Amino acid sequence: MQDPSVEMRGIVKRFGSVTASDQVDFTANAGEIHALLGENGAGKSTVMSMLSGVYRADAGEILLHGRPVRIRSPKDAATLGVGMVFQNFRLVQSLTAAENIVLGEKSSFWRGGKWRRSKQEEIEALGERYGLKFPADRPIWQLSVGEQQRVEIVKTLYRGADIIILDEPTSVLTPGEAEQLFETLRVMKEAGKTVIMTTHKMKEVMASSDRISVMRKGRMIATLNTADTDELELARLMVGREVTIRRQEREQTAGAPLLVVRSLTVSADHGRKALDGLSLTVCEGEIVGVAGVAGNGQKELAEVLTGLRTWKAGEIHFDGNPVTVASVRGAIDAGISHVPENRMKSGLAGRLGSVDNLLFKSYRSGEHSRFGFLKAARNRSWSQELVRRFNVKTPELDTPVQQLSGGNQQKLLFAREVSHQPKLMVAVHPTQGLDVGAAAGVHELLMELRGSGSGVLLISEDLDELLQLSDRILVMYNGSIIGESDHEQADRGQLGLLMAGIRSREGSAV
Ligand SMILES: Nc1ncnc2c1ncn2[C@@H]1O[C@H](COP(=O)(O)OP(=O)(O)O)[C@@H](O)[C@H]1O
Ligand SMILES: [Mg+2]
Repeated sequence: MQDPSVEMRGIVKRFGSVTASDQVDFTANAGEIHALLGENGAGKSTVMSMLSGVYRADAGEILLHGRPVRIRSPKDAATLGVGMVFQNFRLVQSLTAAENIVLGEKSSFWRGGKWRRSKQEEIEALGERYGLKFPADRPIWQLSVGEQQRVEIVKTLYRGADIIILDEPTSVLTPGEAEQLFETLRVMKEAGKTVIMTTHKMKEVMASSDRISVMRKGRMIATLNTADTDELELARLMVGREVTIRRQEREQTAGAPLLVVRSLTVSADHGRKALDGLSLTVCEGEIVGVAGVAGNGQKELAEVLTGLRTWKAGEIHFDGNPVTVASVRGAIDAGISHVPENRMKSGLAGRLGSVDNLLFKSYRSGEHSRFGFLKAARNRSWSQELVRRFNVKTPELDTPVQQLSGGNQQKLLFAREVSHQPKLMVAVHPTQGLDVGAAAGVHELLMELRGSGSGVLLISEDLDELLQLSDRILVMYNGSIIGESDHEQADRGQLGLLMAGIRSREGSAV
């Protein structure tokens, strides 16, 4: 039996009438990645804030490496080797990354350039060792959210933390950045550190942790080895009952066929067939979900429909008219909106602010420009209104959008795409990398579009999302649709088999 590096016993914390921690016991070991899982409001941040000295417990005790300790402030915690990366970063925007990291070291500001340079090198070397790259000599406001998180992590390492707590670290990251972060956590673990990560996402817990502690309503429910559990059990522990998928209440609204695709064949970038005789229909006021493992032609399908890619054979009809050539302009003018898979690569211009990004697609219209000149004041107030309506959190309208969190970038993109009153929305993985709140907002927007008579083609790998939103679900495999089910009868197991290319005996193929 390993000696735990962290032991919390009988921890109680009340906020007024709310008991945020109710006799919580928690232990973590050196050399492990320990996930603290629970729904929003379960009490994860509160427990970790007591370990890191932000809050003081009303009752209970904390032992580090077997010794009882008193942690009265974040400074106490740091001295004891505990560092926490908070959900909202606490960096000074005008200082460089390196300055933020050494901030608080004795008289760091009065030392000379040579000292600074050597510190900067030390910091960069530390970052490199853990796979945490960021420009150490640039002010924080110029860094992306992902880079700022890396600065926060290096800050705890620089201060010698051997117990590192990350509070919902992936909520601000793209899936690619999250993968990188997990790699960093593994390096820390190899180095013998205790890594604790809070999250509400089961998938990432399964992918990245050694052990999992589950909290629900302020109580510690269970601690499990990740290898011995699965998402179903975790879901049950998290919500305290059998989980059934909640389908969005809905009335039939589907109208006339809006998009009709027949026998579409498309080559991928390497000449391979990406779409192979694919047919589908989306009606007005209908959400059609496309399930499937990524790489089965979903990307190419979205690209053809939004004018980014040509096709070899087959027919496309949109809103009663045949579509003959691939044209982005043509797709926009016809009323097709696109929320692409990679919002920073093909959706938003990272260095530009919100106004420019919102105008991207509509600057030619008479409302926004006249004789080729943009109507600056009107465009600003129009943008301000969209930012307000879609609840995009940005410091300024001109703040480069690469500095916004993933959720806010996605809301901005939606604001732009929805502001045209699209007839058809093609949304690819629209909630990937978003926290629950932001994801719910996106779901609501899609349901609103449906309600207003627009068609939605929702391409997603997330079955829960598809089951919740779609009027019909199509399963895509190897470039064609190999199965379909409607909202009422859609079944997880069946869809899963189809996603793997296995058709049922009864034959649910189209
Ligand atoms: N500073 C605070 N003041 C009052 N209530 C709080 C405070 N912090 C957290 N809470 C409450 O404590 C409960 C647990 O919150 P939290 O620890 O943030 O949960 P989690 O991190 O699991 O989402 C919630 O009901 C929350 O509203
Ligand atoms: Mg929290």
